[in-house]
Amino acid sequence: MGSPCSAEVAALRRGERFSFSAAAGPLPAEVADAVAEACRPRPASILSLPFTSPAFHRIQAETEACLRRLLAIPDTFRVLFLAGGASAQFAALPLNLLGEGGRALYVDTGHWSLRALAEAARYGEAGVAARGAGAIPPLADWAVDASAAYCHLTSNETADGLQYDELPALPLPLVADMSSDFLTRALDFSRLALVYAGTQKTIGIPGLTVVIVHERLLGRAAPATPRVMNYAAQAEAQSRLCTPPVFPIFVAHLMLHWIEAQGGVTAMATALARRSAAVYAAFDGSGGVYRPVVEAPFRSRVNPCFRLADDETTEHFLRAAEAAGLRDLRGHPAVGGVRISLYNGIGDGAVEALLGFLDAFARGRAQA
Ligand SMILES: Cc1ncc(COP(=O)(O)O)c(C=O)c1O
Repeated sequence: MGSPCSAEVAALRRGERFSFSAAAGPLPAEVADAVAEACRPRPASILSLPFTSPAFHRIQAETEACLRRLLAIPDTFRVLFLAGGASAQFAALPLNLLGEGGRALYVDTGHWSLRALAEAARYGEAGVAARGAGAIPPLADWAVDASAAYCHLTSNETADGLQYDELPALPLPLVADMSSDFLTRALDFSRLALVYAGTQKTIGIPGLTVVIVHERLLGRAAPATPRVMNYAAQAEAQSRLCTPPVFPIFVAHLMLHWIEAQGGVTAMATALARRSAAVYAAFDGSGGVYRPVVEAPFRSRVNPCFRLADDETTEHFLRAAEAAGLRDLRGHPAVGGVRISLYNGIGDGAVEALLGFLDAFARGRAQA
């Protein structure tokens, strides 16, 4: 069947290009093949699987069980599969957690934490515990008020290329947006009260947000909270208060089992450490052509960002990369520069092609 976008779809299918997009991560070939296979049978396929069917309930249960194994999620935490993107959680958090007259704290380290803070401020009192650009302020400098309802941080600032090496131990419930580093490392749930992540970058496709929430945070929602955003109501209804994102849950199910077969989050963390170290070494060895914007201890393993000498050089770099089959390297519009995204599904071939290009481009500039 033809569509106005047939050419785009065909180019994607030929797979002659590698995408380093920060917005959505690639699926490994085995996962993509399994997804395609599951879509094929007619008349029924995964695409029309009713959320009320025992088959879907089993898929959802298996997805949760695999996630629990991979992250060693304690029984005291509930796992929710919700629609609306991570941005919907920016509103759901204060609605569910602030309670009567409560106050939230946010650590502002860049684009996404600021977005989360701005949204929370629409629903209640949200203050800043700490603020840092290009660096995470030392914990000793955070204005931590143990009586606040929760403290929110963004574990990996996707737009700014800044990441927490370790999540802090705080005297109040810690909430982490892990949309761009979910399942790239192990988690210490003794430090966490709630984790949320859109699945499109590291464990699947757009349309699903996973929320992992400690039971003690349930049941505090403001009366006006939409029921589909109410954590306690969704936990009670097994995330099926409305039609859940069936297909994205199925893809996450495949992706999580793929991660498990690779060796779990330890294998993801090892591959990411190796790849990001090679990318940062390319920056360091470029004779100043690639200029990282984030201070070394806080550099994101997932989204290394850099700048070139000026806008003209940046455009030249992006055009040359595109011609070499390396796509989606432009930095976030709010930040500029260049951004490389190394999500779980990316293959070694893509990373090698990128490293080769970085090296060749830098040598070309040195000779110019
Ligand atoms: C860290 C982080 N949080 C939240 C979001 C927003 O996600 P969504 O578009 O699913 O609402 C993004 C998107 O890139 C992100 O990187």
